[in-house]
Amino acid sequence: MEHLVEMTAAYAARLGRVPTAFVQTFGCQMNARDSEKLRGILQDAGFAEGADETADVVVINTCTVRENANERLYGHLGHLNSMKREHPDKLIVLCGCMMQEPDEVARVRRTYSFVDVVFGTHNLYRFPELLARRLGGEKRVFEVWEAPQEMVEELPKKREVPYKSGVNISFGCDNFCSYCIVPYVRGRERSRRPEDILEEVRRLAADGVIEIMLLGQNVNSYGKGLAEPITFAQLLEQVCAVPGIERVRFMTSHPKDLSDDLIAVMAREPKVCRHLHLPMQSGSTRILKAMNRRYTKEGYLALAGKIKAAIPDLHLTTDIIVGFPGETEEDFQETLDVVRRVRFDSAFTFIYSPRTGTPAASMPDQVAPEVVKGRFARLLDLVQTIGSEESLRELGQTLPALVEDVDGAHPGRVTGRLGNNVMVHFDGGPELIGRIVDVSLDEAHGFYYIGHRA
Ligand code: 5AD
Ligand code: SF4
Repeated sequence: MEHLVEMTAAYAARLGRVPTAFVQTFGCQMNARDSEKLRGILQDAGFAEGADETADVVVINTCTVRENANERLYGHLGHLNSMKREHPDKLIVLCGCMMQEPDEVARVRRTYSFVDVVFGTHNLYRFPELLARRLGGEKRVFEVWEAPQEMVEELPKKREVPYKSGVNISFGCDNFCSYCIVPYVRGRERSRRPEDILEEVRRLAADGVIEIMLLGQNVNSYGKGLAEPITFAQLLEQVCAVPGIERVRFMTSHPKDLSDDLIAVMAREPKVCRHLHLPMQSGSTRILKAMNRRYTKEGYLALAGKIKAAIPDLHLTTDIIVGFPGETEEDFQETLDVVRRVRFDSAFTFIYSPRTGTPAASMPDQVAPEVVKGRFARLLDLVQTIGSEESLRELGQTLPALVEDVDGAHPGRVTGRLGNNVMVHFDGGPELIGRIVDVSLDEAHGFYYIGHRA
């Protein structure tokens, strides 16, 4: 790190001003948290935060979960190249999941010669050293590790907002769903030690954080491989007990590992937000098997029913993939059937995207794009209709909302998030940002409420 501080000072001297750095994030919450680490490193090194990609150093934290993310990156790089021609001291850094794919790194090396630094998900903590080497005069610095080595706990972090924060509890994934590239680019599942997690949460609380989002590719299998056994339910309870923390969320839950203990903790612990994201992916048992999800349609329905019975005010959301290889109209009807029966508050719907190296990419019977598009539109229509009926069922109640922002469209109004993840706009000023206030939910508007302070 000292080396980077020196090199940044020399860079500043060359430019004749404090250099700026901008980190752009694609993809999931996990990447968002990694970007906070990248920003922390850049800030400690002496960079000022840039507002956009006109900054001197542009870091792109990439995602590769679906193909369109990759294409967007390459489009974007062309634009950055023209900016770099005008400003030759500009540095372009690529990292994140896409850089764990050897073919993509080869493409960047070959075709995008203006990219200065490349690293992957496993060696993020080496960023100071790699950037220092580039600033010190090395031409291009590429370093990607195939597998993780040690877990580095002490990285600086610069939070996006002061009042809430993600906290990693595990990295990687062992599930190998047959469509998914995550296990290949994020490696095997490793859990952080509970004492390290709790120490981080305590420090965040001391620093003014009131809402924590526990992050893992599959939080429900947390604890596997640790010296002292602990379950996710136990960890969640311990996180809730940290003074100063008022709300706890978590992401993502795999249905096959969601325990009764977890449901019990969620039901009795008021700090756990009334929101559960439980990806179902498909409603067809046959397709679920081909996806290697290890649950059935009936299993998912039973689990969703059990959770809703135990926690009636919980909002349930999901992920659904349309057009997985071999998906027939009957399979798709099973998906619609689950959506109708569970009545999700909202759902992210995805068109299946073949990822090189995953088993599904070479399965026979890839579904024709026109067929997939038709199914996707029908599914979207259904999830939106049900979501707009379900998600605002607390109309008329008074619930606590964490104020996140002023409402840009309406001066004198702020935007808050309810525990169930639904947004509410109500009267108030910027002094409320970061505070939890009680709000009466007066009007339902599609997917959000208008309310007033109770
Ligand atoms: N194609 C389409 N969607 C995918 N997802 C993961 N991999 C793919 C893929 N290859 C979706 C899943 C997952 C979410 C984060 O992204 O629904 O839950
Ligand atoms: Fe991908 Fe499945 Fe792991 Fe989620 S659980 S990251 S979908 S392999």
